[in-house]
Amino acid sequence: MEKGAVRRKDIVDILPEHNEGVPLIPQIIASDADEFDKLCDIIQETGYHRIDLNMGCPAPMQTKLARGSAMLSSSELVEDIANRMKTRSDLRFSVKMRLGWKESDEWRQILPILHDIPLEHITLHPRVGIQQYKGEVNMEMFKMFYEACHHPLIYNGDIQTLDDLARMEEECPRLTGIMMGRGLLANPVLSAEYASGTAWTWAKRRDTVLRMHDEWLQFCREKYVSDSQVLLQVKPFWEYQNAWIGKKVYKHLMKSGSFRNYMAAVHEFSALKEEE
Ligand SMILES: Cc1cc2nc3c(=O)[nH]c(=O)nc-3n(C[C@H](O)[C@H](O)[C@H](O)COP(=O)(O)O)c2cc1C
Repeated sequence: MEKGAVRRKDIVDILPEHNEGVPLIPQIIASDADEFDKLCDIIQETGYHRIDLNMGCPAPMQTKLARGSAMLSSSELVEDIANRMKTRSDLRFSVKMRLGWKESDEWRQILPILHDIPLEHITLHPRVGIQQYKGEVNMEMFKMFYEACHHPLIYNGDIQTLDDLARMEEECPRLTGIMMGRGLLANPVLSAEYASGTAWTWAKRRDTVLRMHDEWLQFCREKYVSDSQVLLQVKPFWEYQNAWIGKKVYKHLMKSGSFRNYMAAVHEFSALKEEE
């Protein structure tokens, strides 16, 4: 929320007609129970009955307003919101959180409050808020949370490979799921590789990623008028993928100043072989 209202753009983004065929769960970030309530009303008006509460965001713009992971330092605040959730029996909630704001055991005060409300699941990122994304994930603390948590639990943090996924499954077999962020941006076929039970060849990955890119490009070309707007939207597709697509083609994609040069770089990638 900004100055008591939600940006029109954010509401338009979640409208059901813009998300057909997508199992979307809108997420909110709130600084107190009143803001939480207002956001729930707005989302409910657009037709959703399911909301995820963000208690994990480490961005200073949010945490300085007690939102996101900063909320974990105040069990009173979490309790206020939990009490408000109880009054909203028309909505189903889940929570995304970290171990704490400053200390990695702050969750011990928060989890009993969360046990007292019906949640679809908790997604836990085992860092503290002030760490942002620095340092290692704290697996020891994650496992303590895993043992203590009665709600369905989803792990999130630093999953990059099929081996990482296999290790999590082996070490925490009761997990409800594993959420991947940057790892999936770095290798967009990682979840497909997982589903098929094996890593794909470089060429199969390249061809699949190119098909994904083409769909995204086509969507952007229909939506945006100028080439420069389209470029602004499609270039970030490659942003995390430098490690496997190769430095040279990555540079050509990201540095292309015109649509023509960009498409030449896409073509260069489509003709590339792994060893080049
Ligand atoms: C640029 C950026 C934006 C993010 N925005 C959100 C967000 O809006 N909501 C959320 O729950 N997490 C958000 N996250 C956090 C991710 O969901 C995830 O917890 C984080 O990237 C760690 O997981 P990973 O190591 O798999 O990337 C964001 C992360 C990044 C890097």
